[in-house]
Amino acid sequence: MNGHTSPAPSRLYNASSVNLEEFKHLCSRTTDPTTYPLCDSISHNVPIYDIPTLEQSQTSSNNLSSLQDEWHHILHSGPGVFVLRKMYNPAKYSAVLSATNTAYDSIIATEQSSSAFSSKGDHFASGGTNDRIWSAFSKHALADPESFVSYYSNPWLAAVSTAWLGPGYKVTAQVNAVHPGGEAQAPHRDYHLGFPDEERCRHYPIPLQLASQFLTLQGAVAHSDMPLESGPTRYLPFSQCYAPGYLAWRRDEFKSFFEANYISLPLSLGDGVFFNPALFHAAGANVMDPANGGFRRVANLLQISAAMGKTMESVETLPLIQSVWDLLVSKYKGEAGGVIADSDMDPARWSLPAREVRAFVQAVVEAYPFPTNLDKRPPAPSGMAPESELDVVVRGLEEGWGREKIMLEIEQLQRDSRA
Ligand SMILES: [Fe+2]
Repeated sequence: MNGHTSPAPSRLYNASSVNLEEFKHLCSRTTDPTTYPLCDSISHNVPIYDIPTLEQSQTSSNNLSSLQDEWHHILHSGPGVFVLRKMYNPAKYSAVLSATNTAYDSIIATEQSSSAFSSKGDHFASGGTNDRIWSAFSKHALADPESFVSYYSNPWLAAVSTAWLGPGYKVTAQVNAVHPGGEAQAPHRDYHLGFPDEERCRHYPIPLQLASQFLTLQGAVAHSDMPLESGPTRYLPFSQCYAPGYLAWRRDEFKSFFEANYISLPLSLGDGVFFNPALFHAAGANVMDPANGGFRRVANLLQISAAMGKTMESVETLPLIQSVWDLLVSKYKGEAGGVIADSDMDPARWSLPAREVRAFVQAVVEAYPFPTNLDKRPPAPSGMAPESELDVVVRGLEEGWGREKIMLEIEQLQRDSRA
């Protein structure tokens, strides 16, 4: 052997990977209007597309493809967010939006009168200042099939989803209605890696941290007018370009920078806004006065996922656990000495048997808590995600559960995760 050799670089970020100065530099860019000739205007670095204008001038697939190129560029390496003004043009969709809002209101009223309501969790809002509909996509379909069909037939929704995710995507939706007095959220990034805590997040290799943003598209459709004082979402343009951002958004200096530099745009009923899930953002505060015409700010939050986020084959956990539980418990209690390694599997910290117990559990049960049913499995009080099957199995080992008990618990988890 000759020439220069060196060990492989770390696949993971470390504590010094995060740097506020780099972040500030990235976020100080200005949107170049010549890159986005099809947009109508640019406001606070955010390109705004006027859908009625585009409908008049854009009919060929060539033009649509150019438009999709612009959107993809914005999300990928541009400001990270754009507005589709009149995506649900009231001239055409007025009755659909109004029927949809009626369906939402009746879902909210039904859920608020049910006994399960008080246990309902929300990622961010404290109880009472907002109305949230989890799984609004399915609930809308069951409550009012007619408006559901019209609403999700909007070709602009398909155009924007396809631009970022390709043709095989899956739509989910949650409704958020924020009353006057509702506070702002803390800035954050979204699904997938916006959910685990920083330490767990750090163990996802760097390329996967970058890949997450390509698998999901975040959107919102305004179901009410949203003047600035109603608190439309706050964004920090270009912040999706910061590679270690999933490790940075919880840090105080990044939050302060966000608070000093965010932008937000007023929206009207039927406008759409789409953004890269890695963009730093936060819902704003509704500071309107209810005694002076103040109203609820209502948005249908769209989360659209790429097909690649799914496995090729499905695995049923229960029969596998039934088959192996006694062996696993004996391995855990015996060789591993009642210890299961943590997710980092660091050999310096854990014995080989403890790592083997972990490896087996990770291979066999679902370590990922989604898709789930957030009505039945609200985020745990200290976190943003419900327990995964893996969390339950670890708890079962640590608490010495028998086979019958683990089966019941996993069965319950699976039942409660269904739509
Ligand atoms: Fe968010």
